[in-house]
Amino acid sequence: MTTRVRTVDAARPEAEVMADAAAIIRRGGLVAFPTETVYGLGAAALDAEAVQRIFDAKGRPSTDPLIVHIAGVDHLATVAREVPPVALTLAQHYWPGPLTLVLPKHAVVPLVVTAGRDTVAVRVPAHPVARALIEACGVPIAAPSANRFSRPSPTTAAHVVDELQGRVDLVLDAGPATIGVESTIVDCSVSPPRLLRHGGVTREQLLDDVPDLLVVARSGDARESQAAPGQLLRHYAPSAPLTLVVGGETAVRTRLVDEARRLAATGERVGILAPEEDVLAVTPPLTALAASGRVLLQAYGRRAEPASAARDLFAALRALDARGPTVLLASGIGDEGIGAAVRDRLSRAAEGRVVVVTPAC
Ligand code: TXA
Ligand code: MG
Repeated sequence: MTTRVRTVDAARPEAEVMADAAAIIRRGGLVAFPTETVYGLGAAALDAEAVQRIFDAKGRPSTDPLIVHIAGVDHLATVAREVPPVALTLAQHYWPGPLTLVLPKHAVVPLVVTAGRDTVAVRVPAHPVARALIEACGVPIAAPSANRFSRPSPTTAAHVVDELQGRVDLVLDAGPATIGVESTIVDCSVSPPRLLRHGGVTREQLLDDVPDLLVVARSGDARESQAAPGQLLRHYAPSAPLTLVVGGETAVRTRLVDEARRLAATGERVGILAPEEDVLAVTPPLTALAASGRVLLQAYGRRAEPASAARDLFAALRALDARGPTVLLASGIGDEGIGAAVRDRLSRAAEGRVVVVTPAC
C-alpha cells in the first residue's frame, strides 16, 4: 500500500481534501488525521473489517478497545444504548474536547471495536479537521492513536509517517497537535464514575461536575494503572531504558546530574528529558560531558507552563530517542492539572522505573 500525505488547513479544512479522505473511510480504508490531543488512525467504526485493519496496521492486540469519534452529543444514541445523566453533563460541558466517555454499547457497534466488551468509549474531538472528516463521512470513526503498538503517540504527521508508512492509505497533515497528550477517559457505565486515564481534561476540572468521581488511574505508579484495558505498563516505550526521577525540584536536579555523571563514566550515552527549567539548571555541571556527546539534553516545555510540557512531551521523547542515547533519565512537572497526565505517560515510558527523591533541605 502506498501512503499519501496531504496538507490541510487546520482552521478551515479544504472541502476537496476532506471529500478525498471521507471516500477512503467509506470504502473501508484507513486515514490518519489530526485531533487536538494526538493524531488518530481512523476507520469506519461500524465496519468490522475496516476496524480490523486498524489493529493490523498498528500491531495492536485485539484485547485493546478503540475510541469511537462522533460529530456531536446528538449522535451519542447511535453508538451508546444508554446515557446516564452524569455522562450527559460531562458531554455537554467538555465536548467537543479531550474527554472520552465509556458507556453501555449499542448493538450496532461491532465487538472488534470494543474488544468484546459491552461498553464503548466515545469522544467528540474539537479539531476542525477531525470534525470535518466525521461530518464528511457521515459515519462514526473508530480511531486509536496513530502509532505502532507500545510506541509514543504521534503529535505530528511526520511521526505518523515514520511509524505507519505503507500501512495507511492517507495521512492528513494539519501541523502539530495542540494538547499533546491523549484524552481523559471516564467510565460512566458504572456508579460512581471512574477516571481511567489522565488526559486533556484534568481530574480537578472533572471533580466540579462529578464530586464522587473515583480516580482509578494512578499518575504515579504505572504498575497499578491497569484500570483501562490497554493501559499497559510498557507503553510509550523509547528504545533506551528510561528512569523517571520525581520529588523536590532541587533534589531532582541533583539526582539527574549525579546519575548522568555516574552513567557517563561507565561509557553510557545519557539522554536527559526534562522541563526547560531543569535543563537550564543542570546544564552548567554537565557542560563538559555534553560537549563530549556523553550527555544529551532535551527540554519538553516549561514547568511554569504545564500545557507546553504536555504539548511537547511526545515529540521531545522521539527527538531524544533519535539522538541515540543508551540510557534515559527524565524529570516531571508535578502532579497538578495536566501534570498528572504527563507524569502518567512518563512513568509508563519508564515501565515503572520511578525514583522518588526527598526534597532538599
Ligand atoms: O486523545 C485520544 O483519546 C486519542 C485520539 C486519536 O482520539 N485516541 C487514543 O486512543 O488515545 P488509544 O487507542 O490510543 O487509547 C484508547 C484507550 C484504550 O487503550 C483503552 O484503554 C480505552 O481507550 N478504552 C477504549 N474502549 C474502552 C472501554 N470500552 N472500556 C474501558 N476503556 C476503554
Ligand atoms: Mg494509544
